[in-house]
Amino acid sequence: MTTLLFPGSFDPFTRGHRDIARRAAHVCDKLYVVIMHNDSKKHLFTPEERVWMASESLKEYPNIEVLMSDGLLVDVFKEKKCDAVIRGIRSESDFRYEAEMAMANKLLYPEYDVMLFPCRDDLSLISSTIVKEVGYYGGDLSKMVPAEILDFISDRLKKGRT
Ligand code: PNS
Repeated sequence: MTTLLFPGSFDPFTRGHRDIARRAAHVCDKLYVVIMHNDSKKHLFTPEERVWMASESLKEYPNIEVLMSDGLLVDVFKEKKCDAVIRGIRSESDFRYEAEMAMANKLLYPEYDVMLFPCRDDLSLISSTIVKEVGYYGGDLSKMVPAEILDFISDRLKKGRT
């Protein structure tokens, strides 16, 4: 039984995130998508909203479970007996960030490992930051976020403007 873990802040969940989760779910028996806190970012959506967005976007995949944690990634990794963490990379700078994070996590827990999935070409420019910026000004987010959560994200971001 292969268990993978896809952690992230997912603030908000994008089509890029869904594509990585879909591909990871295809090569394992169980995939945990875990909504976590990134101390270097100020999150706009609450953890509960982020769990809801990921769950709605991934409901067609029976081997994916969405969870949240406000602790360390390695602790979730241990608790869920994961084989590897999955992360998507869009660019060289993403790779550097992932390599540093992997080294730190491996120091904390030597059995920790990570698999990096290169992002699909047509989704490589989508990030949660871009989604927030476009949505804040009322721009069309339909090519950036899953259809199931489009209205929720658009309304929420427009409200943030008022
Ligand atoms: O989507 P993000 O913001 O790039 O995800 C980063 C995340 C949430 C995976 C990372 O910040 C994290 O692992 N947070 C949990 C706390 C932790 O374990 N920090 C040590 C990382 S070296």
